[in-house]
Amino acid sequence: IGADIQHFDEIDSTNNYAKKIANEGCAHGTVVVAEKQTTGRGRIGRQWQSDTSEGIWFSIVLRPEMKPEDLQVITLAASVAVVEAIEETLGIVCGIKWPNDIIIDGKKLGGILTELSAEPGHVNYVVVGIGINANQDLEHFDYEIRQKAISLKMCKGETVSRSNLLGSILTNFEEVYKGVLLGKNKEIIDRWTKYSVTIGKEVKIAYRNMEYIGTAQSVASDGRLIVQCKDGVTREISAGEIQVRGL
Ligand code: BTN
Repeated sequence: IGADIQHFDEIDSTNNYAKKIANEGCAHGTVVVAEKQTTGRGRIGRQWQSDTSEGIWFSIVLRPEMKPEDLQVITLAASVAVVEAIEETLGIVCGIKWPNDIIIDGKKLGGILTELSAEPGHVNYVVVGIGINANQDLEHFDYEIRQKAISLKMCKGETVSRSNLLGSILTNFEEVYKGVLLGKNKEIIDRWTKYSVTIGKEVKIAYRNMEYIGTAQSVASDGRLIVQCKDGVTREISAGEIQVRGL
């Protein structure tokens, strides 16, 4: 992973470009990095503010020989790679909000957007897009997200090395990804759970136009969140939107 790194000063979205070159047949492990994105994308059709070179914006193309239904753990593995790298290189301990929001003090430091191309039973490629707010000052963030966003610089009080952190994330990701291929899901989920700010909390789940309230119990080995709902039913939630209360 990272043998081929394609670097751009400005691009629409590293995920868009990664999907394009993946469709054209690029190698497993190709990484696309951009200084700035003009239309960075977040989960569930949201925008991702990344019009500044103070952040870390990149995407990894993977070609896992796995069933599409087993892929969710890759996103959890990516968030483990990110939080462990931030702790190792900067000594900052972040939290992870299920499935993949990277959180400090209840504010959003980064996120992961995983997109895939698959047919029944076969994965063509997976693009794991990672965005981390590194050296932005508070004023950099759009007014609408200023209450909810944080950067490593705001947390540490000094500028951080984006290249060191990127290198460390890629090294860590290589290791956790190998774990996924070897079926070490439990180990990865245990490492994920150590940083979780979701497990044990009351969560609100928006699911098929319904809303359920319950307590997040744990993450199943396929990466789904197990929620004991107030209506007495235990539900296993995949990728859908959840809101974690009490942060
Ligand atoms: C989220 O939390 O909603 C996910 C945010 C993911 C942002 C990254 S930045 C690099 C890559 N390119 C994109 O357009 N999005 C992801």
